[in-house]
Amino acid sequence: MEDMKVYLTEKEMPRQWYNVQADLPKPLPPPLHPGTLKPLGPQDLAPIFPMGLIEQEVSQQRWIDIPEDVISIYKLWRPTPLCRAKRLEVALKTPARIYYKNEGVSAAGSHKPNTAVAQAYYNKKEGVKRLSTETGAGQWGSALAFGCNVFGLECKVYMVKVSYQQKPYRRMMMETWGASVTPSPSDQTDAGRMILAKDPNSPGSLGIAISEAVNDAVKREDTRYSLGSVLNHVILHQTVVGLETKAQLKKIGVEPDVLIGCVGGGSNFSGFCFPFFPEKKQGKKVRFVAVEPTACPTLTKGLYRYDFGDTAQMAPIVKMYTLGHTFVPPGIHAGGLRYHGDAPLLCLLYDEGFVEAVAYPQNPVFEAAMLFARTEGTIPAPETAHAIRAAIDEAIKCREKKEEKVIVFNFSGHGHFDLAAYDMFLSKKLEDYEYPEEKIKEALKDLPKV
Ligand SMILES: Cc1ncc(COP(=O)(O)O)c(C=O)c1O
Repeated sequence: MEDMKVYLTEKEMPRQWYNVQADLPKPLPPPLHPGTLKPLGPQDLAPIFPMGLIEQEVSQQRWIDIPEDVISIYKLWRPTPLCRAKRLEVALKTPARIYYKNEGVSAAGSHKPNTAVAQAYYNKKEGVKRLSTETGAGQWGSALAFGCNVFGLECKVYMVKVSYQQKPYRRMMMETWGASVTPSPSDQTDAGRMILAKDPNSPGSLGIAISEAVNDAVKREDTRYSLGSVLNHVILHQTVVGLETKAQLKKIGVEPDVLIGCVGGGSNFSGFCFPFFPEKKQGKKVRFVAVEPTACPTLTKGLYRYDFGDTAQMAPIVKMYTLGHTFVPPGIHAGGLRYHGDAPLLCLLYDEGFVEAVAYPQNPVFEAAMLFARTEGTIPAPETAHAIRAAIDEAIKCREKKEEKVIVFNFSGHGHFDLAAYDMFLSKKLEDYEYPEEKIKEALKDLPKV
């Protein structure tokens, strides 16, 4: 009988991250200073990030060594299993083979610690004492709280207010690892006070929380800022996921036809797919499918323009698919997918036609999550359920066309702290938000003129 899981030994773990910048079909448009609109130099980023990460942000080197101290922490949960979703295949009556890379087995329950641990390491190495960050669903905040804890750093998390209210257990988890958590917008930063003055009932957004966390870091000498997605170095760290997946598929002699991941800022999707990019660029027929919510349809409905990374216009301006930095998406339960932009690296490859994108409303996403939970057991995070929806739809297409394709998706995290959303779905109270066309049109008027 065939094994249902493919494991790597710890010795077979990747020792280097893969940097897709070395293989891009054209150079990445440079990030711009939010004040001067001129290209950013390393010195401009120094008050926010440590030099080790700034170097990775701009590096064109294809392979970058993973430090031994990071590997030894990765070994707490890595290598993660590649699982065959056989019971899901049977339920779908599909001839397709479905595999998923289970990143939900980390301490924080998602892929996020892959970069949190690396970022905490590089900050610690340069003498930083405290990290500030934002979190949407609480997944990133808990990952960074964990990362800071293992390297003995203080951690300050600005958590999007609607998630803070919906997900008290994530806050408790962060506090268990020693972090301090504040609902955003807050009155603790200039950026937060500015937002509250305009809208005292603001539910918050990732864009706002980023402004607060950046504001916090630039005001304190002992503090740097840490971002859980979007940036090149974050995606670099996440390639450990795709590199392991590649080695696992090779071990069982399987070639993927389609790779699927959900997209918030783009880190789990990119980390999962990019290690397969060199072959794809050379003509190998493997599809990369990015999945997003219709409530925040960055790739499918956004524009490829320079925009601010945050609401208060403090973070660098980058070229990306964007819905406008003032866009505040509806409070959907996949909090981690409510960001107005996406990673510039992913956006470039999407614009060049290497990546496809699809968008789904919440209810079909939760239907997919239910089917997965009832066949494969694990309850997925609402973000992850977007990837599952797309994988199921691909498998259904295979059934209709009688095709035996190999579908592999990134199971970015479990949903054990998202049960309130499941409760809403089960009691038929989950709202489907249509594409918020008017709000997006308004927000796109605020793009910077560069
Ligand atoms: C489980 C999970 N998956 C996916 C995401 C989306 O982020 P990214 O696109 O950076 O992977 C998040 C963000 O919080 C998450 O918690």
